[in-house]
Amino acid sequence: MEFYEVVKTRKTIRDFSGKKVDKKTIERILSAGLMAPTNDHLRNWEFIVITEKEVIEKIIKPIPKTISEKRVNFIINSWRVNAPLQNEVYKNAIPKQYRMLIESECLIMPFFKQKAPLLKPKYLSALNGFASIWCCIENILLAVTAEKLGCALRIPFDKETENISEVLKHPKEYFMPCYLAIGYPLPKIKNPLQIKHKIKDKIHYNKW
Ligand SMILES: Cc1cc2nc3c(=O)[nH]c(=O)nc-3n(C[C@H](O)[C@H](O)[C@H](O)COP(=O)(O)O)c2cc1C
Repeated sequence: MEFYEVVKTRKTIRDFSGKKVDKKTIERILSAGLMAPTNDHLRNWEFIVITEKEVIEKIIKPIPKTISEKRVNFIINSWRVNAPLQNEVYKNAIPKQYRMLIESECLIMPFFKQKAPLLKPKYLSALNGFASIWCCIENILLAVTAEKLGCALRIPFDKETENISEVLKHPKEYFMPCYLAIGYPLPKIKNPLQIKHKIKDKIHYNKW
């Protein structure tokens, strides 16, 4: 695919067909991740690729398997979501969190090395490692699209980070910014519409 076509085609996919993803494809995708810019020239990133369902189950155990409509509405209200399109995306995405991870054929756990405290940084530059892994993640998302695969991401919440450390026993100085669930998209599933932005309304020349 041509670059701008990949960028336009990339969408979050939370419904997977169950078709297996081969190891070589995953390696190509992660190699694209490794080409992203890095703050300290080291690319201190590691990837745990999980294809065994039992291991995925252990990792995502703290995530509720199902969630009632009432609870979804409660969560959305507590986030003070006012835009109707944004509301629809959350209503679609929240109930799929457990399912999208367990039904993906490959769960990738990216890790980055963090020396300074991540959650109370003194300087913006203390977050450079975090910023760099997100550059890597975007490369992964684009490579996934170019391979005609789909990807859903989830930020670990509450006890999930602790559970991940217990199950995967990764070194203490490494952090996992998000789960990446990769698989072939289930055909004919349409995501809710996203708010459309025009670049003319976003761009400021020479002053705000
Ligand atoms: C920092 C970040 C955090 C996100 N967290 C989640 C998440 O926890 N669960 C989820 O299903 N999607 C998550 N997403 C995906 C967004 O919901 C999605 O990118 C957004 O709705 C735009 O849709 P698109 O990716 O199809 O363009 C996250 C995306 C980003 C960039």
